[in-house]
Amino acid sequence: RARIFSGMQPTSDSLHLGNYLGALTQWVALQESYDALYCVVDLHALTVSPDPAVLRDRTRRTAAQYLAAGVDPARSILFVQSHVPEHAELAWILSCHTGFGEAGRMTQFKDKSGRYGAEGTTVGLFTYPVLMAADILLYDTALVPVGEDQRQHLELTRDLAQRLNARFGAGTAIVPEAHIVRATAKIYDLQEPTAKMSKSSANPNGIIELLDDPKVVAKRIRSAVTDAEREIRFDPEAKPGIANLLTIYSALTNRDVPTLEAEYAGRGYGDLKKDLAEVVVDFLRPFQERANAYLADPAALDDVLADGAERAQDLAGATLERIYDRTGLLRRR
Ligand code: TYM
Repeated sequence: RARIFSGMQPTSDSLHLGNYLGALTQWVALQESYDALYCVVDLHALTVSPDPAVLRDRTRRTAAQYLAAGVDPARSILFVQSHVPEHAELAWILSCHTGFGEAGRMTQFKDKSGRYGAEGTTVGLFTYPVLMAADILLYDTALVPVGEDQRQHLELTRDLAQRLNARFGAGTAIVPEAHIVRATAKIYDLQEPTAKMSKSSANPNGIIELLDDPKVVAKRIRSAVTDAEREIRFDPEAKPGIANLLTIYSALTNRDVPTLEAEYAGRGYGDLKKDLAEVVVDFLRPFQERANAYLADPAALDDVLADGAERAQDLAGATLERIYDRTGLLRRR
C-alpha cells in the first residue's frame, strides 16, 4: 500500500479548527486506504524557542488530539519527530541540495523573518522547509495531506526529490503529491475572515481551539464578523465571513453548502450562527472527553508513541541507508 505522511507542530496547547478541518479529518479518512505515519513535529517547534516544559507538555497534548480525532495507532504510526533521529540526518543531506535563494523564496519564511527581523530570525527557521522535506522523503511518501498554506513547502519537497533522482539515479527518492482538499484547505479567522485561522492570530476571538471551553467557543461563533447584507449565500469574495461559517458548518455536518443555503434562505445571520455554535459544541464535547482521557494517562500515551517511533525508525533507517549510500557516504562495515 502507498504511504502517507503528515505532521503538526506542538506550538500551542490546543489545535484549532483549521488544523482539524484542513488536515486532521483527512488523516483519519485516509488511514483506511493507506499506510499512514502521523508525526508530532517537535523539532520544527524549536524554531519558535519554546519553554522546555511547555514544549514537552504540548507534544503529548498534540498526540492526544490526533488520537481523539480518530488516528488509530493500531493501523497508523503515531510518533514524535525527535524520537527518530533520521529526520535530522536526512535534513542535512537535503540542505546540501537546496539553493540559498530557493529557501529564501518560501513565503512562510519571508512572512516570519519579516516579523522577527534579521537578528530574531534563526537559521533553523530558514531551513525549516528542508526538515519538512526530510520528514516526507524519509518514508518514501506518496501522499501528504495538508492545508493550503503548506503547498509551497510540498513543491520544494518534490523539487528536492527530483533533484536527488537526477543526480544519484532514479529511485533515490519518491516524489510525493500534496493532498489538499479544496473545500477545507483554508479555514479563515472568525474576526478577520480574509486571513487564515492561525495559532499566531492577533485576536484570540478569531480562532476556535479544539480544547477550548465550549461556552467560549459558542460565543466566538456568535460574534464572528460577517457583512452588512442579510442574505446567507456562499460567496467567498463578497461575503468571506458567511462563506467561512458555511464551510465549517458543511464540513462538520457532512451536508453540502447548497443544501445549507437552501435551508437558511430568508433567515438571519443570527440563526446561522446559533445553529453552527451548537454544531461545533456538539462536536467538541466528545472530542474533549477523548483527548482528556488520553492526557489523564501519560504513561499509556508514551507507550503508544514509543511503539510508533520504533515502527517509524525501521522504515526511516532503510531509506536513509539507501540515500547515504547513493550519495557516496562510505557505509560502516
Ligand atoms: P502546522 O502545524 O502549522 O499546521 C498543521 C496542519 O494544519 C493545516 N492548517 C490549516 N488548514 C486549513 N485552514 C487553516 N486555517 C489551517 N491552518 C493550518 C496546515 O496546512 C497543516 O497541514 N510545516 C507544517 C508541519 C510539518 C509537516 C511536515 C506537514 C512538518 N513536517 C511534513 C506535512 C508533512 C506546519 O507547520 O503545519
